Amino acid sequence: MIRLRIIDIIEKKRDGLSLDEQEIKYAIDGYVKGEIPDYQVSALLMAIYLKGMNDIEATHLTKAMLFSGETIDLSMIKGVKVDKHSTGGVGDKTTLVLGPLVASMGAKLAKLSGRGLGHTGGTLDKLESIEGCSIDLSPEHFIDQVNKINIAVSGQTASIVPADKLLYALRDVTGTVSSIPLIASSIMSKKLASGADIICLDVKIGGGAFMKTIEEGILLSRLMVAIGKGFNKKVFAILSGMDQPLGYAIGNRLEVKEAIDTLSGKGPQDLEELCSEIAAEMVFRGGLSSSKKEALALASANLKNGLALKKFYQFIEAQGGHIDNLDEFVKVRDVFPYRAKTAGLIARIDALSIGLASMRLGGGREIKEDVIDPMVGIVLKHKIGDKVSRGDVLCEVYANKPIDNEILSLLDQAFCFSEDIVKMPKVIEKIIG
Ligand code: URA
Repeated sequence: MIRLRIIDIIEKKRDGLSLDEQEIKYAIDGYVKGEIPDYQVSALLMAIYLKGMNDIEATHLTKAMLFSGETIDLSMIKGVKVDKHSTGGVGDKTTLVLGPLVASMGAKLAKLSGRGLGHTGGTLDKLESIEGCSIDLSPEHFIDQVNKINIAVSGQTASIVPADKLLYALRDVTGTVSSIPLIASSIMSKKLASGADIICLDVKIGGGAFMKTIEEGILLSRLMVAIGKGFNKKVFAILSGMDQPLGYAIGNRLEVKEAIDTLSGKGPQDLEELCSEIAAEMVFRGGLSSSKKEALALASANLKNGLALKKFYQFIEAQGGHIDNLDEFVKVRDVFPYRAKTAGLIARIDALSIGLASMRLGGGREIKEDVIDPMVGIVLKHKIGDKVSRGDVLCEVYANKPIDNEILSLLDQAFCFSEDIVKMPKVIEKIIG
């Protein structure tokens, strides 16, 4: 047998050739064991970034990453196990709505979640903003909770896909994050390790997202669906818009509150549409309804009849959390109105700028060690297509410290106006898979 050498593997990819399963496994295993140094893996990542990978290589990479650590065995959970992953957005509280909704419709959501970094928020931070809510569930608690109430969300432990943690950290500092095969294998290795039968990938498209164009989103989605097929999983991707934040609220408790409103049938239209659509796809694909139409009708009913809301409170309680008084849930020193400087139609609300402004208020982390202020954030008063006059309040800033010029200039950048007719963005651009 020929002895593999990392230098040959780097050169092969540098020259645009395809790597085989053994070569990919050798590189990943060697890196995780500490036998291959950062500088050689950095070179390999850059070669992958520049030369790409075909579907088969990306599937081998996903497999090598997946088996670099433990996988979760959900066989003790009876029923249709569903999971979802978002590529990261601003105001993206989808899991907080979708989870209880789909659980109220009979599916089992067993989800391992991540934290937000940078301008996008993470589900764990939102859950932890609720008094007492724990995201460190033992495997037994996790499985038992899903069996009892159809939903549990826990933090991803270090033993799941350790290769992704190492590779992601390296990609972050070597300019190799935005590579479609590297993103696809990173996401899919974690989703496949979590063991669900049906996986929804919510691929965000637009200014506030990794994928800036629909074309890039389609490529990423197709690749992830193809990888999922290679592992006999039902995977579908929903391409959803991120040319403005999702819903109106950005910031941890503000988003929890908006999720509760949505579960009470009083949420923003875009958030309700996205969550209902994903829930209906999951329920229909899982054989829990005879048509998608029937599943959509059930989603709509459960958002209005209190069943989805009841499931949310059951879920929070099962994880040790409680919300005693929703009116007192968000308390800050100041709520500052940010006003329009010109009149016109809102053409765009740059999600990245809004996310950064919320982060700067203390609502997100710039570095891993930052401590989040759960109360602060931004509540939009208008969305794309709204007509505003000069002086109208565009958003409210929930702050516990003085609002500095950087926050104000981020907000100035965020709102773009037009005098022409504005094309309304679609909530869902496409479903693939
Ligand atoms: N999300 C992930 O989990 N991995 C990536 O590489 C990008 C987004």
